[in-house]
Amino acid sequence: MTDLENLLQAAQADFAAAPTPAELENAKARFLGKSGRVTELMKGLGALSIEEKKTRGAEINQLKVGIEAALTARRDALAAAELEKQLKAEALDVTLPGRSRGTGGLHPITRAMERIEAIFGSMGFDVADGPEIETDWYSFSALNNPENHPARSMQDTFYVDMKDENGSWLNLRPHTSPMQIRYAQAHAKRYAGQETMPEIRVIAPGRTYRVDSDATHSPMFHQVEGLWVGENISFKDLKAVYLNFITAFFETDQLQLRFRPSYFPFTEPSAEIDIMFESGPLKGRWLEVSGSGQVHPQVIRNMGLDPERYIGFAFGSGIDRLAMLRYGVNDLRAFFDGDLRFLSQFK
Ligand code: DAH
Repeated sequence: MTDLENLLQAAQADFAAAPTPAELENAKARFLGKSGRVTELMKGLGALSIEEKKTRGAEINQLKVGIEAALTARRDALAAAELEKQLKAEALDVTLPGRSRGTGGLHPITRAMERIEAIFGSMGFDVADGPEIETDWYSFSALNNPENHPARSMQDTFYVDMKDENGSWLNLRPHTSPMQIRYAQAHAKRYAGQETMPEIRVIAPGRTYRVDSDATHSPMFHQVEGLWVGENISFKDLKAVYLNFITAFFETDQLQLRFRPSYFPFTEPSAEIDIMFESGPLKGRWLEVSGSGQVHPQVIRNMGLDPERYIGFAFGSGIDRLAMLRYGVNDLRAFFDGDLRFLSQFK
């Protein structure tokens, strides 16, 4: 084997051994570069005779062509291998089932709230929203709740480590009743000085908080407050409105309503509203769903209205309880666990 043939073989072996394009280019430089071995051979031509130069020069050129061919082949092979690797890494199995984006759904409590808003909306009730961090005055005093009433105690109410402008601790509202005052005050202010005032007809659904936790109580729960105040609004209106609401909510006429005397500081007289289904799985049991009553004259006064002229009713119902009854859920905590197996049943 001639020295040139040896050199071609050496180049082919070197190229084949180069695992990456960068190393292949280094190998190329060793043969074809400025001080590469082929270049060195060319320099050696100067010492030869014209005849020898011709033949030797042609041989070296042929070697160069061979080395370049080997280089190109190796370049192509490395590129192909790279592409192959990439295709493998990015392989798509088009036979796999598609990854669908799960459709979300409204939380059952949200759905219950929306139903409640729609039903009362159809009866001409406005829907109001208000702060969950309340002042002592709105949560208790304005609602005729005496200073020493147990509802104010730490065992029932969450307090916020901050005081209002009167130096009273702020609280996480333990009921939606403060919204009676807030809404009525704004209404009274809007129509102050005018001959007549449109009736106040509003519901206020929202989150409420109490230090309480078991299967039927959650420290965060939901209530809907209702208020209808005018010059001639009585218990019979409350009964008609509530019966209409509850039959629409449960989509059945097969139920009875009962008012059971009770006590709330902000109503006089006060009543609990119980319902009883005449058919279905809950048939025959009286279930408490709401507090209610005729708004206390002192509360009317705290709203900025004249109790000699204005009278009305209020109620406060537990939304979670209504949702539990409607959807047949027996543990309140399931609503707030965030378990998709539970929640996706309501989509
Ligand atoms: N705020 C009462 C509670 O949380 C519920 C209630 C009772 C609201 C009577 C009312 C009402 O508006 O008139 O237990």
